[in-house]
Amino acid sequence: MNLLLTRRDGPVEYVTLNRPDVRNAFNAGMIAELTAWAAARSASPDGVRAVVIGGAGKSFCAGADAAWLKSVAQYSEIENVRDATLASQMFRALDELPVPVIGRVQGAAIGGGAGLVAVCDIVVAAEDAVFGFTEVKLGIVPAVISPFVIAKIGVSAARELFLTGARFPAARAYKMDLVHAVVPGNELDETIERYVAEILAGGPEAIAAAKTLVRDVANARNAGDAAAITANALAGRRASAEGQEGLRAFLEKRKPGWAK
Ligand code: COA
Repeated sequence: MNLLLTRRDGPVEYVTLNRPDVRNAFNAGMIAELTAWAAARSASPDGVRAVVIGGAGKSFCAGADAAWLKSVAQYSEIENVRDATLASQMFRALDELPVPVIGRVQGAAIGGGAGLVAVCDIVVAAEDAVFGFTEVKLGIVPAVISPFVIAKIGVSAARELFLTGARFPAARAYKMDLVHAVVPGNELDETIERYVAEILAGGPEAIAAAKTLVRDVANARNAGDAAAITANALAGRRASAEGQEGLRAFLEKRKPGWAK
């Protein structure tokens, strides 16, 4: 793995997109590495309780590598669909990671880079960061990222921003809940540390269950389905060893085992 750098610091894993010369644009290799990493982490959290995703150098991620996109135009339709499916699988694997993912955004998050922002659970952006779903400016569409982006920013903002392809500042991204904190660039890491501390105080299984809960309730077909999902989720956690430990620790006025 060299297009992706990973580093462990106890329960926190730092994942860095590493093509700074092209502002960490996605090519087939980076998509393969990110997908493989996400699959490995989903199969075995291996003690990882929070992931921080960032980009090396000046920018978070400039989206799809334009040179790579241009070259795949020579592909047959079947090969093009296969390629787009690989990108789609990457975003889905990241979206469904069972550990909280924090995005660290400096510089620009454009196209697929803004899509990557959308599959993070928590996003901290530098106040001068720039975002955009600029695909139409290149004659393409923000296709594989759209389910994740629309889930975050809603249909109205997606219609405006997908159709204009306009770039927008961190303040606007914050307003539509694409990002959750906007800070001076030199405060990105300390802000992320505060989020990590919150996460480490929560039960890891409960946090994974909460992440699944949000997705399942958002996708529930009707109120009856939603009620069944929520009742099962609560019953499962209450009866679990982790849930029992959390409730006991609260009543005994001590920290639960996972927070020590
Ligand atoms: N694909 C391929 N190369 C890219 C790229 C992309 N998506 N984005 C940037 N690069 C390359 C540039 O061509 C340039 O290469 P060069 O050094 O050989 O000239 C290098 O990365 C640096 O780009 P530059 O524009 O000089 O950097 P910047 O820091 O001033 O601006 C961005 C960064 C991300 C704002 C700007 O590069 C940009 O807008 N890129 C296009 C993003 C885009 O349209 N993405 C949608 C793809 S679907």
